Amino acid sequence: MTRLDDLGYPITIAPEVASLVAEFVAAKGYRRSVVLADRNVAAPARAIGRALGRATVIEFALGERRKTMRTLERVLDALAAAKADRETLVVGVGGGVAGDLFGFAAATYMRGVPFLNVATSLVAMVDAAIGGKTSVDLRAGKNLAGVFRDPVAVFCDIGALRTLPQAQFREGLAEVVKHGIIEGRDVFEGLETLAPHPLRKWPWETVVADSLRVKAMIVGDDRLERGARETLNLGHTFAHAIELAGGYRTPHGDAVSIGLRAAGLLALRTGRFSEAEHLRVLSLLTLLRLPLVMPIDDPQTVLDAMTSDKKARNGTLRFVLPRTIGDVEYGVTAPAQSVRAVLRRVRSLPGAAEFR
Ligand SMILES: NC(=O)c1ccc[n+]([C@@H]2O[C@H](COP(=O)([O-])OP(=O)(O)OC[C@H]3O[C@@H](n4cnc5c(N)ncnc54)[C@H](O)[C@@H]3O)[C@@H](O)[C@H]2O)c1
Ligand SMILES: [Zn+2]
Repeated sequence: MTRLDDLGYPITIAPEVASLVAEFVAAKGYRRSVVLADRNVAAPARAIGRALGRATVIEFALGERRKTMRTLERVLDALAAAKADRETLVVGVGGGVAGDLFGFAAATYMRGVPFLNVATSLVAMVDAAIGGKTSVDLRAGKNLAGVFRDPVAVFCDIGALRTLPQAQFREGLAEVVKHGIIEGRDVFEGLETLAPHPLRKWPWETVVADSLRVKAMIVGDDRLERGARETLNLGHTFAHAIELAGGYRTPHGDAVSIGLRAAGLLALRTGRFSEAEHLRVLSLLTLLRLPLVMPIDDPQTVLDAMTSDKKARNGTLRFVLPRTIGDVEYGVTAPAQSVRAVLRRVRSLPGAAEFR
């Protein structure tokens, strides 16, 4: 078991979490809990329900397409039907969709009841469950409605990863590499050592703890996202634009991987990053079977998507760029011409032309 106390609430990473959740709940004196779960993790959710002593467990069919106001309403209605009151602890079990949605529901049910987040996907463990952002998608775009609200505790259920589909692991790995470039030279080197080994052999408790520590540290310094938290956006200005321009056919993790290559290239062009380190990033992404090539031909469509992103401040494009592996610079503005050149390059695999 690994425990982190960098934020205002404990984060516990353990091979089995049901009894630890029950201990926490008993110690805090919550009299009643309702467990809300993504149906795909019904087994660990029921184990938590049993450990809590016959807590009501309510399962939902989720997935990104159901991260909507409609599902939020169903969740709130389910809490009311279960007669949850202001003293009831809501325990949410699942990936990032479950955490964002159940967290939002707990933040608004009766103007806010306590929320405990049990993360079961790699993305949720290293990213979504940390930082207190909750949300649903609107027709106009992803994560457009939500609130900032910290959970009372986060538990990363390492045992649950046994059933996580391979493609979902890759989604999370892109964020793990991102954290390594932002802050953790050791995290990055650790990944280089593990990368050739099959994922089921990885020491996940350590990998998750090292990676989420980077996010927890940055978020702890900057709760409301006005400064340093922007560094977590490394690769994401490109990634969001690639997702948007491609009609969300590129999975987020893949887009982040391509975005990390693009950020490296832009850093190289502006004299911030070395060729050797850029190649190290590309090799690691390749070993992890993450893509480097954007599946969109026209760089202009991606550039247009970039300027329409909610994070583009009054039309100027801001980037987080690597200086070395383990250190980044944020708030960097770059001319559209350089960005276009980078986007042209990421249409094909790196070759001799990568640095020209
Ligand atoms: N709040 C934040 O700061 C933040 C940060 C990053 C991402 N997010 C959000 O997180 C979401 C993506 O998270 P995600 O990738 O976990 O998506 P997800 O919750 O949809 O999980 C991916 C898939 O894996 C399944 N799953 C989860 N855990 C499993 C397990 N242990 N075994 C078997 N199947 C399992 C889910 O049912 C789903 O089908 C997006 O909506 C994104 O916006 C939020
Ligand atoms: Zn991301």
